[in-house]
Amino acid sequence: MGDVLVTGATGGIGTALVDALVAAGHRVTAVGRDVARLNVPGIEADLAEPGTLAAAVEKLGEVRALVHCAGISPIEAVADASPETWRRTLAVNVASAAELVRLALPALRRSRGHVIFVNAAPGMTGVPRWSAFVASKAALRELAESLREEEAVHGIRVTTVYPGATATDLLGEVRSTFGRPYDPEACIQPHSLAAMIVWVLNAPADSYPCELSVLPSPR
Ligand SMILES: NC(=O)c1ccc[n+]([C@@H]2O[C@H](COP(=O)([O-])OP(=O)(O)OC[C@H]3O[C@@H](n4cnc5c(N)ncnc54)[C@H](OP(=O)(O)O)[C@@H]3O)[C@@H](O)[C@H]2O)c1
Repeated sequence: MGDVLVTGATGGIGTALVDALVAAGHRVTAVGRDVARLNVPGIEADLAEPGTLAAAVEKLGEVRALVHCAGISPIEAVADASPETWRRTLAVNVASAAELVRLALPALRRSRGHVIFVNAAPGMTGVPRWSAFVASKAALRELAESLREEEAVHGIRVTTVYPGATATDLLGEVRSTFGRPYDPEACIQPHSLAAMIVWVLNAPADSYPCELSVLPSPR
């Protein structure tokens, strides 16, 4: 059936996702900088350099799905953000996703596979000091929309997942930089979000969620 390729597999959400995929019987290959930290096969790659990915994934086997979960989240006003902040954020959050999809497309077409992009919280737009991040996620949404239209003819399904606050170190850092409180218990737990992503992947043959917004339950 082929592997599920996962980026961001060393992160808070990605680690939980790899565990959930393996528990559900999927074969997983992680794509990232430090795949030695994982218990699944890995392809070493720096997503900040999308031009290097073709060589990194040269020996890609059969692929049934790609889940792009890697992301960075710099917090800087437009007045302060350097060209390198913009380049890196767009590279990791969106350009690497487009390049990995491009490289995996022959295999995804053969498997009539599924592409899942982990985006930002539902409705995230126009956030002061977060322009590079929200711009990259808006671009990731549009990448999904175009890809879905283009590849429907090959049976490829494309889903964007919009997770609300999820208890990871990244969220802790983001909240602290914005000077906002952070209570991990009030957030989505990474294993809960992972279970929903596995559920999306296991959707019935005749239908699937093309967008999924996930919020922490009210307490
Ligand atoms: N946590 C939330 O509340 C929340 C809410 C909405 C959306 N999201 C999105 O969910 C995704 C995962 O978030 P998270 O909270 O799990 O973050 P995280 O713990 O910081 O994980 C980020 C992942 O991205 C990888 N990554 C970063 N730069 C990379 C690079 N240059 N090359 C390869 N991999 C790179 C990291 O790998 P390293 O270990 O090598 O750094 C790590 O595996 C992100 O796209 C984020 O925007 C999170």
